[in-house]
Amino acid sequence: MKKNNESSSSFPIGETAQEKRYSHASEFYKLQPFDRPRPNTEIADIPVIDMEGMCDDPTRRIKVVQDIGNACKHSGFFQVINHGISQPILDGAISTAARFFDLPTKEKEKFMSNEVHEPVRYGTSIQDGLDKVQFWRVFLKQYAHPLKEWVHLWPNNPPEYRQKMGDYAVAVQKMAIDIMGAITESLGLGPTYLTTKLDDGMQVMFVNCYPRCSQPELALGLPPHTDYTCITIVLQNSADGLEIRDLGDGSWRLIPLVRSALQVNVGDYLEVLSNGRYKSVVHRVTLNNEKARISISSLHSLGMDVKMESAKELVDEEHPKGYKESSFNDFLDFISKNNLEEEKSFLKTVKIQK
Ligand code: OGA
Ligand code: NI
Repeated sequence: MKKNNESSSSFPIGETAQEKRYSHASEFYKLQPFDRPRPNTEIADIPVIDMEGMCDDPTRRIKVVQDIGNACKHSGFFQVINHGISQPILDGAISTAARFFDLPTKEKEKFMSNEVHEPVRYGTSIQDGLDKVQFWRVFLKQYAHPLKEWVHLWPNNPPEYRQKMGDYAVAVQKMAIDIMGAITESLGLGPTYLTTKLDDGMQVMFVNCYPRCSQPELALGLPPHTDYTCITIVLQNSADGLEIRDLGDGSWRLIPLVRSALQVNVGDYLEVLSNGRYKSVVHRVTLNNEKARISISSLHSLGMDVKMESAKELVDEEHPKGYKESSFNDFLDFISKNNLEEEKSFLKTVKIQK
């Protein structure tokens, strides 16, 4: 159904449906009927965890650690409130992201790249022109930790971008380390098991915009995937769209909007570390025809070449080692040759077949 001179293998910047501000999904974006989202998805029943006192009240901590452990085990997903990141910081990050996406194409084009190793890159879909089906998304990927190493590569238009996004990046990196402390504690590994490695590790942020789409039933913003990260923390504006695949019955469930909450999901690295006790949750992003959805996902991993392996304490006769070790660099090499789609996920390649 392609027009004569159009090819899905070439999507010059400025020629995408999003950049042209089309609201309809052209042939390139249409999914096979089976892959399309269904209307009226059920709301996910996932815990909202109050982090108040987690770091300084030992009695509260016991409860929070338990709640976080249960959430990781049963849903691979939870929301956090009273997380200590102020509303102005959250709002500042979302508003500067929105202003960035509103800039003319020629401003954003400067960051355009399909090279997954680039520390800062702008694109539409996932890999422009390389995805079989295009996704209704525009994004800026940026490395963020340690901030001083990367911030000078970030956009400086809008002028407040580095300050506002930087304030959020630093706050969310600290929060990720605190949450990972609770997670390793819940696994019986103690609260500082990964602290140094995470602090020396990678924080990769995806600043995403899913423009409004007049045919949200035909396309997706992001296909089903898991994240190559320990945990991902997502901040979203007031449009929903993030769905997870229920670990129990496999159905899609919509993540509800909770004001000021941040979304936390288990990633591949944590599945490896926990030797399969906590599963990396499959998720996707659906679209709507009313307003653009802005989200900022922050992915936390070890250093570029540091291998993640299953904690020795969690490997025994009853739980034989289920995963090969791998680094973030191994993952980047893999996705530069493959796409994000779940059937071919990197996690599958590190799983030891039994
Ligand atoms: C991602 C992702 C979810 C969202 O960036 O990996 O899944 O809500 N984002 O944008
Ligand atoms: Ni994701």
